[in-house]
Amino acid sequence: MTKRGNAIEIKDIRKSFGTLEVLKGINFVIPRGSIVALLGPNGAGKTTLIRILSTLLTPDAGQATIEGFDVVDEADNVRGVIGLTGQYAAIDEYLSGRENLEMMGHLYHLSKPDTKKRAAELLEKFDLADAANRPAKTYSGGMSRRLDLASSLIASPPILFFDEPTTGLDPRSRLMMWEIIDNLTKEGATILLTTQYLDEADQLADRIAVLDGGMIIAEGTPNQLKAKVGNERIEFEFDSLECLKKAEKIISNDSILVNEEKYTLSVANDKGVKKLKSLLEEFEKSNITVVTLSLHKPTLDDVFLKLTGHQATAEELAEEEKEPKKGKK
Ligand SMILES: Nc1ncnc2c1ncn2[C@@H]1O[C@H](COP(=O)(O)OP(=O)(O)O)[C@@H](O)[C@H]1O
Ligand SMILES: [Mg+2]
Repeated sequence: MTKRGNAIEIKDIRKSFGTLEVLKGINFVIPRGSIVALLGPNGAGKTTLIRILSTLLTPDAGQATIEGFDVVDEADNVRGVIGLTGQYAAIDEYLSGRENLEMMGHLYHLSKPDTKKRAAELLEKFDLADAANRPAKTYSGGMSRRLDLASSLIASPPILFFDEPTTGLDPRSRLMMWEIIDNLTKEGATILLTTQYLDEADQLADRIAVLDGGMIIAEGTPNQLKAKVGNERIEFEFDSLECLKKAEKIISNDSILVNEEKYTLSVANDKGVKKLKSLLEEFEKSNITVVTLSLHKPTLDDVFLKLTGHQATAEELAEEEKEPKKGKK
């Protein structure tokens, strides 16, 4: 296999559905062996991009290559180097876990003994060995996801796409999935995953690309993105509303956030310890009692809010409730 350039290169990819412009020119590259999270709210176009990269959908314009193969002109070659786990499980519920994996091995033209060996390996690795011979319809949500992911790995592809791998999973299954994905990167896979969860991107990805309004609006390591929203904040908790009000007057700058119910106040800490020291001195002079004091580093939630002007998940959840996802299998 020839290996030209980066594992994944995306140049000015555009896609519309009717008059709806979903992707308005997406550019980025993913070096071999790294893991990138495409982070964006529901409807941002994450699945559309993954479908284009995995040859299931043709872009209107632009170019994308996977291991040097063009996703349109060399689609067969692309299919030979990728594994895809879609947003919804694509397993056959009436087959057992083992049968599902063996069927995939057959589709990928692995030999019978190789298929059996690889299936057993994956069942073991993803904690499905005990349930291997049960029909998949008896599996929990977490187990189905793990089986789905395992089936995308049957032919050991070097490039993996995971579309919202943990959406809808309980916390324990989610952690398990994170561990699996983390191990795959350690084994050298190149991974592009999509997520609506900032903590997931933060936890797993080397780099994060934020997709909003059809464009990548920010791209970088989790720390680079966090640095964009500025410095850490100091939060003070006072013993009374009166103290809070007095402190508010002393600070009187526009970066403060006040919570009158909890008697807390937070302020951007642009001068580090110096600032903290001078504030505490001023509070003492004015007889203001500080109950607790804490420092807060910016989170990816802050980044998302600042970049997009909206919270990452709250409004999507509301959307979901109004209009349950179609096409759920
Ligand atoms: N086949 C399609 N036909 C028409 N509209 C579509 C189709 N697929 C996706 N869309 C629309 O494109 C937008 C992006 O969808 P999608 O890529 O699934 O977003 P995400 O995966 O980020 O939630 C949504 O508004 C969705 O309704
Ligand atoms: Mg999607």
